[in-house]
Amino acid sequence: MRVVIAGGHGKIALLVERLLAGRGDQAVGLIRNPAQVADVRKAGAEAVVCDLEAASAEDVTALLAGADAVVFAAGAGPGSGAPRKDTVDRAASVLMAGAAERAGVRRFVQVSSMGAGQPPAPGRGEVGAAYITAKTAAEADLRARDLDWTILRPGSLTDAPATGRVRLAPPPVPGGRVPRADVAAVIAALLDTPGTRHQTLELVGGDSPVAKAVRSLS
Ligand SMILES: NC(=O)c1ccc[n+]([C@@H]2O[C@H](COP(=O)([O-])OP(=O)(O)OC[C@H]3O[C@@H](n4cnc5c(N)ncnc54)[C@H](OP(=O)(O)O)[C@@H]3O)[C@@H](O)[C@H]2O)c1
Repeated sequence: MRVVIAGGHGKIALLVERLLAGRGDQAVGLIRNPAQVADVRKAGAEAVVCDLEAASAEDVTALLAGADAVVFAAGAGPGSGAPRKDTVDRAASVLMAGAAERAGVRRFVQVSSMGAGQPPAPGRGEVGAAYITAKTAAEADLRARDLDWTILRPGSLTDAPATGRVRLAPPPVPGGRVPRADVAAVIAALLDTPGTRHQTLELVGGDSPVAKAVRSLS
């Protein structure tokens, strides 16, 4: 399986790339900074430089030729302001999803966030509200497309080692933390489980082995 990952040098993306390479799949990480090529290659993936806030729809469509799936794991990140929540967390996902449709790549796993799908909680602040608004709009865009999408909403991410065990279910799941390594394992399993298409799933730490949790939803 050839999987194109938007935000290919992100913490989750690098973990997904390692898992895919380890099981013999081909991962392609889209990055905007050429200095990150070596890290992406070290994770076992092909690196392609593509700034998703500058690329045209045609450019991205061409990059998806021959792919079997797309993972959207990009994000403007914690240091960014409200405008980049819109240009990355919303618009880059819209760009990737439109390109997937045009390129005929049906499988699309989108990393969203718990809290999306509802109005931003009061007290989140301007940037936090822009983030939730952007994720909600990206989800709505994806649901409206003729793609085999799965929307994954993790809780608060940590860099703790993988536990291999999660709580994964349609909303509402009570908020909690989840290691990025477990998120990556869930993404790899979702890619292998087309029966999870057209589902929105929330993810926190839990008791179910990843493979079982994903299989039970298909
Ligand atoms: N933090 C949390 O607790 C939390 C909770 C739920 C969901 N999430 C979501 O989970 C996702 C992944 O999280 P993570 O921790 O792996 O994120 P991360 O390490 O910040 O990775 C995001 C990646 O997106 C890339 N990116 C930003 N703008 C780009 C552009 N214009 N073109 C191409 N790539 C671009 C960044 O590249 P650069 O290095 O070039 O900036 C970075 O590699 C994000 O969408 C985040 O919003 C986070």
